[in-house]
This record gives sequence, structure tokens and C-alpha cells, in this order.
Amino acid sequence: MKRVCFLIFFVVAVAAMTACGEPFSVQQQGDKVVLTLRKAKRQTLWIPIENSAKESYMEVEGSSLYTVPMTVRLASDRVETYMPLHLYKGAKTIKFSECKLGIVAWNNLKMGKNPNPKIEDFRQTIHFTPELGWINDPNGMVWHNGEWHLFFQYNPLGTRWGNMSWGHAVSRDLVEWKQLPTVMYPDSLGAIYSGSAVIDKANTAGFGKDAMVAIYTSSYRSRDKSIKVQQQSISYSHDNGRTFTKYEGNPVLPSQRRNFRDPKIFWHEPTSRWIMSLACGQAMEFYSSSNLKEWEFESRFGDEYGCHFDVWECPDLIELPYKDGTKWVLLCSITKSAEHGSSVQYFVGDFDGHTFKCDTPESYTDWVNYGRDNYATVTWSNVPDGRVVAVAWQNNWKCCSKEKYPTVGYRSWMSLAYELQLIEFEGKAKLVTTPAREYDSYFRHKQQYGNATINGKYDLATLKSVEGAYRLKLDIAKMDDVCGVRLSNDVGEYVDICFDKTNREFRVDRRASGQVDFNELFPSISVAPMSAAEQQSLTIIVDRASVECFTDVAAVSNLVFPAEVYNRIELYTSEGAATIANVELTRGWR
Ligand code: FRU
Repeated sequence: MKRVCFLIFFVVAVAAMTACGEPFSVQQQGDKVVLTLRKAKRQTLWIPIENSAKESYMEVEGSSLYTVPMTVRLASDRVETYMPLHLYKGAKTIKFSECKLGIVAWNNLKMGKNPNPKIEDFRQTIHFTPELGWINDPNGMVWHNGEWHLFFQYNPLGTRWGNMSWGHAVSRDLVEWKQLPTVMYPDSLGAIYSGSAVIDKANTAGFGKDAMVAIYTSSYRSRDKSIKVQQQSISYSHDNGRTFTKYEGNPVLPSQRRNFRDPKIFWHEPTSRWIMSLACGQAMEFYSSSNLKEWEFESRFGDEYGCHFDVWECPDLIELPYKDGTKWVLLCSITKSAEHGSSVQYFVGDFDGHTFKCDTPESYTDWVNYGRDNYATVTWSNVPDGRVVAVAWQNNWKCCSKEKYPTVGYRSWMSLAYELQLIEFEGKAKLVTTPAREYDSYFRHKQQYGNATINGKYDLATLKSVEGAYRLKLDIAKMDDVCGVRLSNDVGEYVDICFDKTNREFRVDRRASGQVDFNELFPSISVAPMSAAEQQSLTIIVDRASVECFTDVAAVSNLVFPAEVYNRIELYTSEGAATIANVELTRGWR
């Protein structure tokens, strides 16, 4: 009886909506719920979503954007966020399957203006965050005509992973980012997984001189997940990356393999060919091409090398100055362990255009960043001054994929941009990442402090109003044992950052950093190596929801979700004293 009453109520509600001149109607047709628009409008339909709802499939008939079914978690009991469905490309009828007529979504559909309240909780200032939706890996990064392009894995219809498309943002200074329209949506070959982009200066592909050419994985998965195929495809842009045309000959590297993805390409001058690194199961493969359309297998690396806890992802092969010459570094994203989750290992060696030869023994590996939130690190191509600049996804698959998460309406963002260098450390070439020099022009309000000997606690500063990010730099000239920095706020949340001389460790403890209980692996201590040098230097960049630390030999980047910004900075020692020098605290200009 209850069900019948509800159905009558619902039909009346929908009829009323239609009678009042709502621009659409909603009806059950067979096993689908069909939304019909009165007229094809050049508008946005805002779809109410709820993260805990199961995925329904949505077919947008007549749309040139959504050409294959998209998934959407339609609000079942409660509207959490509205996600935009763009109707300006001719969509008229939208068919939903695997959903019911009785859910709250149908009575809460909105047309036109964005109905979401301004979503500012934990909004980072100098890290790129999407306005709405889910993001993961940075993709297609290329510098072109004064702009740093950042494409990224994007779910434009939800705040959890799905519908992999390429979102797009640009920046002129790596500090301020502007999100632009999504450039590629899933198609009949599959979702648009990670990849890279280059400027084809010599028109090798025939798309035109200086075309921006993107290469990405077309990842097809059948609805019942029994079929999974990954192949490589290309697309090109003539308008500074604002729009892309998918090449009609896709895929350019066909395959039947399940884990065959994340192409990263560069022009290899000595052999005059494009080289593609590709993640294939638990190894990397290299392919070459003269025209970006036909690819030949060159070699495979890694079956016996490094960490093999899980599949290898997101390769990047880069050449960096080292001593009197250069060395090649192969980046490899991987789940490090069940507890740590996502991380990026790297190998140093030589590359002759065909094969990568690793310098270190098979059992050896090292990590680009020792924090919990730094994954899918890849570099920009075409950087004008020859610097090697990278960015990572600032998250960890283990902590962010489920229903619960501290942010509402958007989820995940990128790391700071880093410059990569090789240094010699303990007899080996070691990769170090430092914040890109562009941030120096953001951190302008400088405060310097005199040298101090600390024995116990020392209150360095209490910041009055913290709006943007801030940076703390210091050198520890000498320490007896443990010397650190505690960042805290007025409600007692804190992050502890310390060097431990006895154990030769650099540690960041975020167990009391704020919201930590949304995932059992989130409360954690990150441990990084520390050099044996008497003097240690430390740079900490604090944004609204992240703390990134850089020492002479290690980087540690972690997310934090404090109720208030950490406005107190305290230095401390335990088991003895330490001498601190060159302390500089700078605030951002926003
Ligand atoms: C890495 C990754 C890639 C893949 C993408 C899918 O985070 O799993 O290997 O292309 O994410 O979104």
C-alpha cells in the first residue's frame, strides 16, 4: 500500500513539474527511466548525486559529447552535490538504466545555473583543484605558448572514480590555475585513461606544424567486467589545447592486453624518433615511431627490478644532468605495500634509444617521495628553459576511492610542481624533487629570524590570519638527537615533522592532524631517509589541506584535513639541543 501511495505521489509530482512548464519530463519506460527534454536546449542539466548510491548508466541520445553510456550515482535518499550534464550538443532524451523511479534525484533535477553552494572546504590555494568532480593522474602536460597545460584524469559526473575523461587546466605561473572545459570524453574504444602530449614541431604526424598531439590509453571494459582491453590512441589540437580531434585511425597501438597503459612520449634526438614508455603489467615497455601513428616495439624493462607489489603504472623516462654527463631516470608508479598504498619508485641508468639499462642491482629501489600522497608523477614536455618539471596526483588510492571523504562536491587535487635533479648520495645517483622556482614569486611576505639554540620547546610564530599557503625554511646547523617542527591550530590538531639523528630518519606524523578517521590507513607516520651530514635543511610548504616537506635528500608530501589552518609554528628538540639558523617564514600573496 505504502509503495502504491508513493508511486501515485511521484507520478503526480512529475506531472505537476511538467504542467508548471518544467523543461523536461521523467517517466518509467520498460526497465529504464527516461528523461525527455521539451526542446533540445543549449543548457546545463544539473544531476543530483549521492556518493553512497550505486552506479546507474546514462545514455544521452543525440549528444556529441557523451557518445557512450556514462555512469552516475543518482541521489537516492539525499542530494549531496549537483554535477553538470551539458546539453548544448544536441541531447534530447536521456535514458537511465539500473535505477528506480522512486529516488530523490528526479524531483531535484535543475536546469541552468550551478545550484551548488560555493564549495570551499579544504580548497587548496596553490595546488590545482577541480571546481567539481573527481580527479586523479596528471596527463598530457606540455608547455606551449606561455601556458603550462595540465590535463588530468577526470570524472565530470561524480566525485568518485569513473567515466575517465581528460579535464583541462592552464597556468602561466604554476601558481594560479584556471580550469577549462573537458577535452576528451569516453568513446567506443573505451574510457580515456592516462597519457601525455607533445608539440609536433616538425609535423611528423601530418596534423599540421606545431599541433599539440595527445597520446592516451583507450581503456575498454565490458559492463560485467569480463572483457578488459587497453590500447593506445592519439588526438590533436590546433587551438592551444582547448579542443581535440580524435584521430580516425585509432587505436595507433592496438592490443588485447588488460594492463597496457599510460603512454608517455618524447622526441629522442640521437635516433630522430618518438619514444613511448608504456606500463605493461609489472614492467615497462618502450616503443618507437617516426610519425606518432605507427609504433614499433623496442624493449622491455623491469620484470626482475624493484618493487613488484602490484602493477606498474604511469612511466616517464627522463634525461637529467649528472656529474659531467647525463643519466636517464625511469619513473614508475606502484602500490608500495598494503599499508602505504600509492607511491612512485624510480630507476637510474642509461637509454640508447632502444633499451634502458639500470645502474642499480635488481633488488634495489628508491622512492621519489616518502609521503602518502604523491602518485603518478610525470613531467611536462617542451619546457622552454630545459628544466625538468613534474607534478603528481596528491592522493593515495587506498584512502580516497570509497564513499567517505572530507571534501564535498570535488575530490582530489594535484601536488606542487617540482623541479627534478640528480645528486650523488651514498655512492648512487639519487633523484631529488624541490618546489618549482615559480613559487618564489608567490611567497613574498618574508619574515626572518635570528639563529637560536633550542633545548625543549620554542614558539617560533603564531600567524594571525592565514589565507593562502605559507612556507617555512630553516637549517639545523647541529642537533644532538631529535629536532623538529610542530604545526598546530587553536583546536589542538597538529602535524609533527622531525629529523631523528640516531635513527637517521626524517619523519612526518599526521595522526593528530585533523579529520583522520574517514579511512583506517589515513592516520600515519611517513618515514624518509636522512643524510649523515651535520647540517640539515628543511623547507615546508603548508596549504589548506597539505603539508609538503623537502630535505636535502627526501621529499615527504601528505594530505591533512584540519578544522582550522595550522597557525602556530613551534620548534622543538628531544634528548638534547639543536642549533637553528636561516629561519625564514614567508606568506603567500592571496
Ligand atoms: C593510475 C591509473 C592509471 C590509469 C588511470 C585511470 O592512477 O590507474 O594507470 O591510466 O589511473 O584513471
